[in-house]
Amino acid sequence: MADRVDLVIFGASGDLAQRKIYPSLGALVVREGHKLRVIGAGRSHKTTDEFRTLIKEASGNSALAANAEWVTLDYSDPATFAPVNSLIAGAPVVVFYLATPPETFSPILGAVASSDMATKGDPSRRIVLEKPLGHDLASAKQLNAQLAASFDEMQVYRIDHYLAKDTVQNVLALRFSNSLFEPVWNRNLVETIQITAAEEEGIGQRAGYYDQTGAVRDMIQNHVLQLLALVTMEPPTTFDADYVRRAKRAALRAMSPLDVTAAVRGQYEGYLDEHGVAVESRRETYAAARVSIENWRWDGVPIFVRTGKALRRRATEIVIKLRDAPLLRIGGRRQRGIPTLIVIRVQPDEGITLRIGAKRPGPRFELVPAGMRLDYAKLTRAELPDAYENVLSEVLAGGHSAFPGAEEIELQWEIVDPLISAWESEGHPEVYPVGSWGPRAADDLVATGGGGRWIVSGDEPGTA
Ligand code: BG6
Repeated sequence: MADRVDLVIFGASGDLAQRKIYPSLGALVVREGHKLRVIGAGRSHKTTDEFRTLIKEASGNSALAANAEWVTLDYSDPATFAPVNSLIAGAPVVVFYLATPPETFSPILGAVASSDMATKGDPSRRIVLEKPLGHDLASAKQLNAQLAASFDEMQVYRIDHYLAKDTVQNVLALRFSNSLFEPVWNRNLVETIQITAAEEEGIGQRAGYYDQTGAVRDMIQNHVLQLLALVTMEPPTTFDADYVRRAKRAALRAMSPLDVTAAVRGQYEGYLDEHGVAVESRRETYAAARVSIENWRWDGVPIFVRTGKALRRRATEIVIKLRDAPLLRIGGRRQRGIPTLIVIRVQPDEGITLRIGAKRPGPRFELVPAGMRLDYAKLTRAELPDAYENVLSEVLAGGHSAFPGAEEIELQWEIVDPLISAWESEGHPEVYPVGSWGPRAADDLVATGGGGRWIVSGDEPGTA
């Protein structure tokens, strides 16, 4: 670990910084003993004392607050970055964290690169970016090109906080550290795969961002496709970031672009009344799609993904449904089939359930759905770390496993762009009731597309 790390946080008084970055830094200082100095940079005029108070309140950590500094910047004027440059002079490691809106990325990166604050190829100078990483393929390419011109890929950390969730990393452990699962993990035995990323909350105060974005750009382009890539990729040569990225790229390349005839969008009832949403907005707050992966392992397997706001409950999970075993008659009666499910529950109640058919206790031979469950929280006495803690810990350590590479981001846009453009010319999305599982049409999508019905644990016997 380096002696001291300076974190220059752009957008330092913003919502993301206060809600996620400072609490995680505070926790990391305690847990891993880092010596950190936060240099807050932003457009607002603040004194260093005011900023220290803000950090103290957000992180609960006095040491982190005590040496923090504040610099007021005009992002479009590189000359205003000079005080940042003087503060970080000689620091062994400097992390530049852009917690700012996407239109500021280009001028900030330009200013950082044109000074001697961060030179290309110097691994001690790191750039951290938050999504949205582009608005479509073209803008994502532009951003990647600017990054590549000024920095080495290994200096760049693109946050997809889903990749930093412990249970998501555990997908790799489940698949590649157990010989039980990999032999069935293909088109011969998998009937269908589903990914649900459901949220109970609506858009809250984020209309300004969300009404320009929608569910596909907000969740599918990044989090959901990253989950799907981890679930469907080939075994990487090693678990090092380079090889994991390579394996994910190959999986993403095999996914066909999303097809509007195999996708459903919805908008929750009352969305149009949310403060800041455009009159008559057609923005989707729910999206479901069938994904095809055209490769040797997955060809023909129906895969479905869905995400939405204001749904029945918060549940992010991956369900692998295996083909039914042949059913034996008993006394002339047909047994009721109980499909085997592998349910990876990302949140809440993190864990993995293997749902199987078991014999009902008693004199008769009858099958009942039964679950074998790994409760992830029970693997440790400590609290499960927040994804942002994992993200920041990895940045401080200079590791890349929890970050998608430049090309993955572009491949993900290639997959979603056709659907986004097709929806742009369509009418109003189906309105779904708050607290439901989304538009009815999404049930038909799964039923007619060969996926049966949506499965979510808790509602499915044997998976609770
Ligand atoms: C963010 C999205 O990336 O992920 C939000 O912008 C969404 O709209 C959030 O609510 C979900 O993250 P989590 O960790 O709460 O599932």
